[in-house]
Amino acid sequence: MTTERPKLSVIGTGYLGATHAVCMVELGYEVIGLDVDEEKIGRLTKGEVPFFEPGLPELLTKHVTSGKLRFTTSYEEVAEFADVHFVCVGTPQKKGEYSADLRYVESAFTSLAPHLTRKVLVVGKSTVPAGTAAHMEKLMRSLTPCKDVELAWNPEFLREGFAVKDTLHPDRLVFGVHSDWAEQQLRAAFAPIVDAGTPVIVTDFATAELVKVAANSFLATKISFINAMAEVCETTGADVTALAEAIGHDERIGHKFLRAGLGFGGGCLPKDIRAFIARAGELGVDQAVSFLREVDEINLRRRARTVELGLDLIDGSYRGTRIAVLGAAFKPNSDDIRDSPALDVAASIGRRGGDVVIFDPQAIENARRVHPELIYVESLDEALAGADVTMLLTEWDEFRGMDPSVVGQQVAQRNIVDGRNVLDPVQWRKAGWRYRALGRP
Ligand code: UGA
Repeated sequence: MTTERPKLSVIGTGYLGATHAVCMVELGYEVIGLDVDEEKIGRLTKGEVPFFEPGLPELLTKHVTSGKLRFTTSYEEVAEFADVHFVCVGTPQKKGEYSADLRYVESAFTSLAPHLTRKVLVVGKSTVPAGTAAHMEKLMRSLTPCKDVELAWNPEFLREGFAVKDTLHPDRLVFGVHSDWAEQQLRAAFAPIVDAGTPVIVTDFATAELVKVAANSFLATKISFINAMAEVCETTGADVTALAEAIGHDERIGHKFLRAGLGFGGGCLPKDIRAFIARAGELGVDQAVSFLREVDEINLRRRARTVELGLDLIDGSYRGTRIAVLGAAFKPNSDDIRDSPALDVAASIGRRGGDVVIFDPQAIENARRVHPELIYVESLDEALAGADVTMLLTEWDEFRGMDPSVVGQQVAQRNIVDGRNVLDPVQWRKAGWRYRALGRP
């Protein structure tokens, strides 16, 4: 096998996998992507990215036409082609439980294994509970004709909206390996990134698995910390945005992930902290991460508080009111509505009898699929028309840049809830708006 420029496969072409496949070709590798979803493979083959991610469509088009990137649904083809296989399938939260659903991970390893006839490296990138890699290695070896096949774990830290940049220029690479050979394969598979001086942490399987959940737990905790301070600010009349700015100037604390507001959502932070709580319980170390329950609860309380702030502005009942909801995605520059705080708040207001009219620059189709009972419109203007309360719940630039005087002409009543603390209260109040925000007077 050529350790110089190994041929790569990417199994699972969702968010993580599609981005990884495209970026590895950009770095000079030949890549084959596999998914069990034929429709997804069909679209990718035509150069169509099935989700919104800035910069990715251009790179995909460039590389499918160059012939260096192709897609398939055949495990046999993938096994034949690649020297290093990356498993990038999802690990969603189980329905009605905290733990992660590992069925796609298990299926990827067990489907690939029987076709592996030469020594290759299979690398897990999915976010998994500690102990999964060791279990997958055993499982794979029991199914593969080549008993030398090795496994490694290489967690991914990309953020949606910055996926291309984060993949091409990561802060660090983490290689969970059992041998020098596996480490060398990974170094070869990431050579341009390693050569650029990116820190590489070589470690065991369990540490590699834990690095990822620890990182996401820390980020979630930081957000919930500032949101807990927002709760205290609300009862003391203090301003959490000034508080965050002040404490963030201490370099040990920093300003990043210290934005108080409606809290975190998405396909990662919420389910990762819950899966961590569940796994810690199985391992008998639940006390060590019991604070994560509080992190989750603080986060969810912000959603309930936002619904209350709107109620304050319309005298206690949503019934018969028109509520403009600006934003459905869990964060800007994404069409992802998984565990979206914005959509959760919108649905809750809808259940309380409000006529909820939602606009989001990218996420409407996805939102409609999950909440068909709400009203969706195609522009900010349509959402604002005749609104009794305007709620800014995802901080897209288009919403941050609204002019309160102009917008004031469109709504029925000048009531605004700034769920992301991105508007200037002084300006909005000056223009005659009643302004409410989380953690700010
Ligand atoms: C997160 C991590 O940031 C990535 O490093 C990780 O790779 C990824 O999960 C994953 O596990 O795959 P992502 O889900 O794309 O990335 O979103 P973030 O940018 O982390 O934002 C998460 C949520 O926190 C959003 O809802 C955002 O609005 C919220 N947030 C973020 C705040 O409420 N306040 C902040 O200060 C920052």
